[in-house]
Amino acid sequence: MRDYKRLFVILLSVLFICPLFAQINEMVIKTNKPGAEIQSTMYGLFFEDINYAADGGLYAELVKNRSFEFPDRFMGWKPFGKVSVRNDGPFEKNPHYVRLEYAGHPHKHTGLDNEGYFGIGVKQDEEYRFSVWARTMDNAKNAKIRVELVDVSSNDEQQAFASQELIIDSSEWKKYSVILKPNKTFAKSVLRIFLTSRDGVDLEHVSLFPVDTWKGHENGLRKDLAQALYDMHPGVFRFPGGCIVEGTDLATRYNWKNSVGPVENRPLNENRWQYTFTHRFYPDYYQSYGLGFYEYFLLCEEIGAEPLPVVSCGLACQFQNDDPKAHVPVSELGSYIQDALDLIEFANGDVTTTWGKLRAEMGHLAPFNLKFIGIGNEQWGPEYPERLEPFVKAIRKAYPDIKIIGSSGPSSEGEQFEYLWPEMKRINVDLVDEHFYRPESWFLKQGSRYDNYDRKGPKVFAGEYACHGEGKKWNHFYASLLEAAFMTGMERNADVVHMATYAPLFAHAEGWQWRPDMIWFDNLRSVKTVSYYVQQLYSLNKGTHVLPLTMNNRPVAGADGQNGLFASAVWDKDQQQIIVKIVNTSDKAQPVKLNFNGLKKSEKLTDGKIITLKSDKLDAENTLENPFLIVPKEKEVAIDGNVLELHIEPYSFYLYKFTLSR
Ligand code: AHR
Repeated sequence: MRDYKRLFVILLSVLFICPLFAQINEMVIKTNKPGAEIQSTMYGLFFEDINYAADGGLYAELVKNRSFEFPDRFMGWKPFGKVSVRNDGPFEKNPHYVRLEYAGHPHKHTGLDNEGYFGIGVKQDEEYRFSVWARTMDNAKNAKIRVELVDVSSNDEQQAFASQELIIDSSEWKKYSVILKPNKTFAKSVLRIFLTSRDGVDLEHVSLFPVDTWKGHENGLRKDLAQALYDMHPGVFRFPGGCIVEGTDLATRYNWKNSVGPVENRPLNENRWQYTFTHRFYPDYYQSYGLGFYEYFLLCEEIGAEPLPVVSCGLACQFQNDDPKAHVPVSELGSYIQDALDLIEFANGDVTTTWGKLRAEMGHLAPFNLKFIGIGNEQWGPEYPERLEPFVKAIRKAYPDIKIIGSSGPSSEGEQFEYLWPEMKRINVDLVDEHFYRPESWFLKQGSRYDNYDRKGPKVFAGEYACHGEGKKWNHFYASLLEAAFMTGMERNADVVHMATYAPLFAHAEGWQWRPDMIWFDNLRSVKTVSYYVQQLYSLNKGTHVLPLTMNNRPVAGADGQNGLFASAVWDKDQQQIIVKIVNTSDKAQPVKLNFNGLKKSEKLTDGKIITLKSDKLDAENTLENPFLIVPKEKEVAIDGNVLELHIEPYSFYLYKFTLSR
């Protein structure tokens, strides 16, 4: 009996008394001590044409191999009747085109179908602009082609669900266009073009774009995808890669000069993601350069991000190519350095300069106001600094205000990282690009990563990072939560970290090579992952200055004794707001007391908001079918005085926002 009593007393104390002593996590924010300025570039975007992010993705062109320049000239096309390929077309850098000739009987047809990228996605009653460069044969004035959108999968009577006839009236090359308006929504259409006259035609640069592109540009971008970028309010936009900057060999590096000027004359380039992973091999993956450097700069301007182009430093991809002869000898770097200088002129030069003039001719008279340039992507070894140095000297001499970004190699730590950081300091670059695709365990331990970085050296550009789940989980909630946790450390160290961009950005659900990614899409739909929402919450709430936030006089960075909590605070002087971010990475709810220290008697915290991002299931994710499963939820909160008592749920991201009223 006595034993029962004792047990009862123990149980009671476990149930009622112990929680009284459960550790309250008391966080102190010094509201009157704004510290380091937060750069406008702090949270941005990194774009690379991987996973069909450009051709087949953001770039709204729906026709694949539109200029018949793929090595297999009919790749993406299915010709029928009398079709031949010729190579003396009107565009010097894209000389191939097709000739369609009468098939010998009025009921027989000559033409070709284009399969698009995993099909051609079109929406009912929307307009699509078909355009083509064409000429008639034998001086004919009235050759005709029929252009259709076709559902080849259907047994319906009406396979073609949009069609138009186009008269080709000249034996000189001319651009023709016509609008197609589908009477149904269909993700996997085929574009069919066939001759309806006896007179034959030559066709080149066959194109189909939605009329309703982002900002209505004809050579435009897919609206939903560009809008998602805009909605992030990114501070910086890094392009065009990634590994495609380097190329498997230098001949296939991204050559920005080939990506500007008339779109018809931009030569095709290989895309190294075509074959990087043999288990994700896409033989039809090329770069049309339709989304080229002009379009990138324009996009940056339209989404309000600082452009950050990256150029080849004369090293081919060191992962793909270990032949020392694959790289340009240092003594022969001249044209590569000139490419970098010319790029700055293209962006910023006035119309009297060669490259500034081209920019103006393309439609942008005013400079793009370029401030940053990256030299090389993930390079390593002494071959990198010895090439970087002459670039830095030449750029500093010609453009002393341009900030230069160097690389710390492909890893977040280790031999190359240790070697390259001091080299970057010696060469005196402005920012150093760090890349880390690391597992959950790594992110959990990196809350203090930047606390002890040299405050006087180059700044950090966390140019590519994402939490890659152990156990083959991708884009799941827990990975995004750990990214949010890690980002409190970047924010707290905003004097050192000036830019951060998650990677990669986009992936076509049927054509990806790399995951996780921030935004997934198919031909008609797109979905923002939880990582997107994490990035967006930081970007929209980045503030202007760091506010000191501590628990027991230490930063809250998931350290021992901190109960899996991570936190940061900022002051937004424009909005007069205090913003606090708290991430609970533990499986237990945490009581938290937020102590806003330093408020004057006349100051009050008003208009309180809490935004939460959480999920009951750690491996849950947003999908194309269920895109809004995990999204930020906002509600109001009031604070009486300067202390806010909180119950922070397990595995959750909370953002608190108050206006400082005086
Ligand atoms: O983001 C995918 C790739 O990861 C990038 O191209 C490269 O820089 C890194 O290795």
